[in-house]
Amino acid sequence: MVMPSVLVPILMLVLIALLLLLIALLVYILFGLYITAQGPPFAPSSDERVEHILQLARVRPGKRVADLGSGDGRVLIALASAGVRADGYEINPWLVWRSRRAVRRAGLEDSIAIHCASFWKANLGRYDLVVIYGIGYIMENLAAKLERELKDGSKVISVYFEFPEWQPKKVLGDVRLYQV
Ligand SMILES: C[S@@+](CC[C@H](N)C(=O)[O-])C[C@H]1O[C@@H](n2cnc3c(N)ncnc32)[C@H](O)[C@@H]1O
Repeated sequence: MVMPSVLVPILMLVLIALLLLLIALLVYILFGLYITAQGPPFAPSSDERVEHILQLARVRPGKRVADLGSGDGRVLIALASAGVRADGYEINPWLVWRSRRAVRRAGLEDSIAIHCASFWKANLGRYDLVVIYGIGYIMENLAAKLERELKDGSKVISVYFEFPEWQPKKVLGDVRLYQV
């Protein structure tokens, strides 16, 4: 059977579109796997958890805090609104873009910096408080990194996931405060 000549380019276009879709899907899946290998997937803290973080942090102006995996920036914005300088480390460029936009809208550009980088590569020595909403399989390695790098007396707040060998100083809901 001979195909009408008009059908050939249409078929080609459909094939190209399907191929592009497949490539985009593959990139999306590979990127998701890459992020999961580096740490937790994106799941924003609820308003209640953010409130618990603020109550446990009891931040004072002049202190430096970091959110490891800063997502859409909500924790950074809450902390900076309480008067501290907050740094976010976020590996997902789309979330970095979204959170920077949220920071601009909140008028907090002078108090918040969001680094498009893995927190595993950051030196955390300058922070008085580190917040993490992680995932079970990173907590042991993360505890070792925090013990190596943080100053004596620095605080760590973990949402939901516990550090296996550390005793929390205080707990609000499922948010825990530790002191190194
Ligand atoms: C559970 S979400 C928490 C988001 C935010 N901190 C909150 O509480 O709403 C974890 C975030 O960590 C990011 N992430 C995962 N591994 C990371 C890594 N190695 N370095 C930086 N960000 C990472 C994910 O992209 C995700 O946005």
